[in-house]
Amino acid sequence: MSQLGSPAWQALSAHAEAMRKEHLRGLFAEDPERFTTFTIDEGGLLLDFSKQRINAETLALLHVYANSVDLDAQKRRMQAGEKINHTEQRAVRHMDLRAGEQAPPEVKNVLKRMQVFCESIHSGRWRGYSGERITDIVNIGIGGSDLGPRMASKALTAHQQPDLHVHFIANVDGADIAPLLARLNPRTTLFIIASKTFTTLETLTNAHSARNWLLATAGNENAVAQHFVAISTNLELTSKFGIANDHVFEFWDWVGGRFSMWSAIGLSLALAIGWRHFEQLLAGAKAMDEHFFAAPPEKNLPLTLALLALWNTDFLGAASHAVLPYSQSLALLPSFLQQLEMESNGKQVNRDGEPVGVATCPVLWGEPGTNGQHSFYQLIHQGGQVIPCDFIALRESDFPLPGHHIALLANCLAQSSALAFGQTAEEVRATVVAEALVPYKIFPGNQPSTTMIIPALTPYTLGQLLALYEHKVFCLGALWNLNSFDQWGVELGKQLAGQLTPLLEGQGDAAVFDASTRGLINALR
Ligand code: F6P
Repeated sequence: MSQLGSPAWQALSAHAEAMRKEHLRGLFAEDPERFTTFTIDEGGLLLDFSKQRINAETLALLHVYANSVDLDAQKRRMQAGEKINHTEQRAVRHMDLRAGEQAPPEVKNVLKRMQVFCESIHSGRWRGYSGERITDIVNIGIGGSDLGPRMASKALTAHQQPDLHVHFIANVDGADIAPLLARLNPRTTLFIIASKTFTTLETLTNAHSARNWLLATAGNENAVAQHFVAISTNLELTSKFGIANDHVFEFWDWVGGRFSMWSAIGLSLALAIGWRHFEQLLAGAKAMDEHFFAAPPEKNLPLTLALLALWNTDFLGAASHAVLPYSQSLALLPSFLQQLEMESNGKQVNRDGEPVGVATCPVLWGEPGTNGQHSFYQLIHQGGQVIPCDFIALRESDFPLPGHHIALLANCLAQSSALAFGQTAEEVRATVVAEALVPYKIFPGNQPSTTMIIPALTPYTLGQLLALYEHKVFCLGALWNLNSFDQWGVELGKQLAGQLTPLLEGQGDAAVFDASTRGLINALR
């Protein structure tokens, strides 16, 4: 029997009928202890989910459902290294990358090599072909080989190494790499080609352009050795590209792309923030792993986020989910989480190859507060859609300037409060307003949100935060009984792009394509 027809799911459906009629105003009025009841304070992170449209019974029923799918057993299977990514016959072991002393020898070995490499760049021991020290690092990768290090380098700007500039190139559009190369000096630039498979079109196209750019100045193939390193699981292809094995930092097929920033894929980040900070990031993630595996369900941060997402998606009908960091440094967190959550759980088929039968991952999006307030918050307040929000706030600013941080925090709290409680017609009238304007000034409220408070944005707390979302993704996959670790949905487009390339170059017969695509080919030729 599909678990979606199970008694636990049906109990949730019946309960949701009643809860859909409740307003957060009423839920707060009924229970003065609501904040305390629906807050978890663990490992320095405070998660306030009292503004979710739940009561104690909702949470209890969600936990019953999690037990009914034996989420704990699924966790143990992952931990034991079973091939839970069954469609690709791979284990899911990214936690081993940050296991510290308990990490497998091959992981320790690559970490050591990364550390030595970082130190040689930072100390200036590593030199370019002309004997000059390296001043610029360019990470060329896409998806999981880009988003994590890119997001974390920005998040940890306050912890950056001086005198080294780290750049990220992903898009196959020449408009990404060309303007960057125009500003850089080939003698002092080092490229990291980051690709798990080393077959990704975007990455290889950019890598070849970077190589040509270097050789145009260096004039000698030998220069490649001092200016290119690679990160991959595919040593055969890295060597074909001309990168010697001792310049390749390896990782393994049991590390999913979107879970890979803890592996050698984090090299650009480690260069940006220094090795000590990178280790602290790993330690923060490890602490979250320990919490996830040891904390009881009611205190378990990732499980709680997952249960709330399940509730909002499948029982309150939310089709999207906003991530709203009140931290400019976390500006790229939403785009990182888009891949993590949507590539993992945007699935229609369950682990038995049958339709999941209910909505899975909501569309995830977001921007830092307060910028979003001046663009799309209008819709969250009055657009009539259920849009659960994650507000993320830092108790201490990473860039303290008089007046700034308090204004930021005040806006964060103002928004979650306005979204939850809204403003009634009576409240509008009490402000003395023309009657004709009253309908425009009503805020329905009842928009569910969670607020997370992080003490300060450090490598350690960032590690905790990211591992928290990773485990949320795992839990949701288990709750929907789907494989969170494959991504078949990206393949068809890649295959068609391969067929379209010659057609756009004027070769071959476009007849296999539909009339629209043929028309567009002609328009572009
Ligand atoms: O196309 C999707 C994807 O396979 C992602 O899962 C992955 O993170 C990205 O492409 C990059 O892949 P690679 O690291 O192999 O270049």
